[in-house]
Amino acid sequence: MEVLETVAAVRARVRAERRAGKSIGLVPTMGYLHEGHLSLIRRARAECDFVVVSIFVNPLQFGPQEDYNTYPRDLNRDTRLAAEAGADVIFHPTPEEMYPAGFQTHVEVEKLSQGLCGAFRPGHFRGVATVVTKLFNIVGPDRAYFGEKDAQQLAIIRRMVRDLNLDVEIVPMPIVRESDGLALSSRNTYLSPAERRAATVLYRALVYGRDLIAAGERDGLRVRDAVRRTLESEPLVSRIDYVAVVDPDTLEEKTTLSGSVMLAVAAYIGKVRLIDNIKVVVD
Ligand code: PAJ
Repeated sequence: MEVLETVAAVRARVRAERRAGKSIGLVPTMGYLHEGHLSLIRRARAECDFVVVSIFVNPLQFGPQEDYNTYPRDLNRDTRLAAEAGADVIFHPTPEEMYPAGFQTHVEVEKLSQGLCGAFRPGHFRGVATVVTKLFNIVGPDRAYFGEKDAQQLAIIRRMVRDLNLDVEIVPMPIVRESDGLALSSRNTYLSPAERRAATVLYRALVYGRDLIAAGERDGLRVRDAVRRTLESEPLVSRIDYVAVVDPDTLEEKTTLSGSVMLAVAAYIGKVRLIDNIKVVVD
């Protein structure tokens, strides 16, 4: 398995594959791969001739008080897992390679970046949109794979691709969960055993909201408040950033429920910030 560290090396490698008529898949990640990431890589393997996995902990998307320095990293393990899942090369640039001195151009998807996580992580989605644009320009993929776990990120990237006429198909992938419902996340490794047990409350709260809708509730605010109360019932939930009932594409709040609805939460278990969401189609 090749690990390429420069833009020039990836460009040369991909160009050769493209000349041979191969389709290119890209799976952008920040590494510390888990089954969620691997599901994206496997799908890319099934649909594309040549699969590039990027592993880059992007400094631009971390706030000054956030976990950039402590974000888990293990390139050897990631290389093995990515190869097993079907990756052809790993792109693992240094921060200097991606952001050389003098770097000053950013991509901002304005309105979609403001609500939900954007309200609590200023600059985060600008950092995401910028790095993903760069990765698209470096690799030139036919398809790029993103998880629905990061639903706001997915909505922003889809909007960005439309707005900027980027020539790439965005493939959304379902959330991979532990058997008790906790959505897989590289940040789950920060949880103590007691916190890990408590963390299932995010999924339980979302399922409770979904059950209310299934039982006929059509008032979005009532669903939102019921989800919030479930989160509050867990003593290890130290802070709730938001509970929201929104349209999955526009991310606008839905007060009367119909069509496609997304329930989304962001909450701290101790010091660890977790997000999760669930989609419901209301008839
Ligand atoms: P990262 O958190 O490493 O996630 C990489 C991709 O894996 C994202 O598309 C994310 O939605 C997906 N993913 C994470 N957990 C998942 C799960 N449990 N089930 C399904 N998919 C899951 O998201 C990022 O990195 C970065 O913001 C990035 C897009 C790479 C830009 O830096």
